Amino acid sequence: MKTILTGVKPTQLPHWGNYLGAILPALSLSQGKDVKSALFIADYHALTTIHDPEIMKEMTYGVAATWLACGLDPERALIYRQSDVPETFELAWILSCFTPKGLMNRAHAYKAKVQENQEQGKKDLDFGVSMGLYTYPILMSADILLFSADEVPVGEDQIQHVEIARDIAQKINNTYGELLKLPEFVTQKGKLIPGLDGRKMSKSYGNHIPLFLDSKKLRKMIMKIKTDSSPPETPKDPNVSLIFDFYKEFATDEQIQDLRKRYENGIGWGEAKQALFEVVDEKLSPMRDKFYELMADKNYLNKLLKEGSDKAREEASQLVSKLRQAMGLGAS
Ligand code: ADP
Ligand code: TRP
Repeated sequence: MKTILTGVKPTQLPHWGNYLGAILPALSLSQGKDVKSALFIADYHALTTIHDPEIMKEMTYGVAATWLACGLDPERALIYRQSDVPETFELAWILSCFTPKGLMNRAHAYKAKVQENQEQGKKDLDFGVSMGLYTYPILMSADILLFSADEVPVGEDQIQHVEIARDIAQKINNTYGELLKLPEFVTQKGKLIPGLDGRKMSKSYGNHIPLFLDSKKLRKMIMKIKTDSSPPETPKDPNVSLIFDFYKEFATDEQIQDLRKRYENGIGWGEAKQALFEVVDEKLSPMRDKFYELMADKNYLNKLLKEGSDKAREEASQLVSKLRQAMGLGAS
């Protein structure tokens, strides 16, 4: 039995890039045979940046509803809030006692902040760095090691944190014996969804298409995709068309072949965009309906997250007990 665990910060609602590049691949991993999978909402990680309680709550529900709407089966996969599993923080402290400070100095989010301060000529290079940001990788290591995860699906920017989790686990294992499982990261190499301007789709570039746009807004956004001024009858190359790139992500093989032919025979850009809109809207509308249905039923979401954290805590408390015992902590 393999354990796959991933965490998502409740800081933004998903766009097409998140869905195709992170959510779908993680869901397909979690549906494999002999797999135990867990998805948690990393709200304590988000606390490094989100200090508005209403936003924190709403985004937490938003992430839960997104994953459920995209197909996460709560009967098969565990879904919970990080803040409902306090064993995480007990483990985080334990791990911090085995983490060289230098390892945190080299963590990329902290380094980026220091560099930014340097470039802005700030005297205090740690300006704006909270201990939460500084020790972020330790908390993430606790999330992972607490459930003895074998594989951790993450974006490339999170690979370093999984490696840090391995380093810390190794230190503990060297001291007390094999208590912690060394996790492996899993990334989606090569799967990069372009944004409306052709660069990588990213919220920070403002070139993203939100996953749960209503039909009207979705159509409007698709109609805004930039195209050249070639007339409808001119044959078009599907291999250099953003519209076609998007179409391939949502359409069936048959639909893709069909649109390819239409491109080669000459197609108006308006028609191509309409074809894209229809295929995307058909695919996403059941998910969108489910998302809004779930968001309107916070009692259900709360119940599900609570059940998830109860189960998660059963497992987590066993690992923490094992560590406490090995370390001579508490009454035994
Ligand atoms: P953003 O760039 O919009 O802030 P994040 O960096 O928070 O998105 O990414 C969250 C997850 O979604 C990561 O696993 C990341 O690899 C994936 N992801 C984000 N944008 C894309 C994209 N354009 N193509 C493929 N995957 C993406
Ligand atoms: N740090 C991750 C991010 O910013 C979210 C996260 C927190 C996570 N804990 C995790 C991911 C544990 C995988 C495993 O995206």
